[in-house]
Amino acid sequence: MSAQNNKPKLHKVTAENAMQALGEWPIQKFHVSHLATSEFKGEGLRPYIVYRDLGAKEATGGLVDAHVNARGRPFEQAAVSKRHYHDVKFQMVYVLKGWNRVEFEGQGEFMMEAGSCWIQPAGIKHTVLEYSDDLEVLEIIIPGTFDTVEVNEPPGFD
Ligand SMILES: [Fe+2]
Repeated sequence: MSAQNNKPKLHKVTAENAMQALGEWPIQKFHVSHLATSEFKGEGLRPYIVYRDLGAKEATGGLVDAHVNARGRPFEQAAVSKRHYHDVKFQMVYVLKGWNRVEFEGQGEFMMEAGSCWIQPAGIKHTVLEYSDDLEVLEIIIPGTFDTVEVNEPPGFD
């Protein structure tokens, strides 16, 4: 048998077979989070962001992270504008308040404002170029724990 024959057979994931292709998911718990009883904490990925955890990680056994993040301090270009990517399978961002200007690998620059929503394909490089002090975004990410990699490239390098 050749080495090629030992490889697991890959099949295309379609809307029709997606749930089967994903295999078994962790048992999920019901969870409610209210703004009035929640706290924004500064112990996440970025020192200039405060995060409100929405409980998805705990409810899904770590499969999904859902949080609101707000800016804990005014925009500082040197601290913020570093091109990077996240080692994720899925990431969705929805702007709740304020605005931010972001560039994405191969896509260009976008002004995102309250109501803007985007899906960041896994591994896409991006740079936050600027944001308003009142920016708040909702992020939903799979898996719930992931790495972020800074790349030594200027925005729009590709
Ligand atoms: Fe990012």
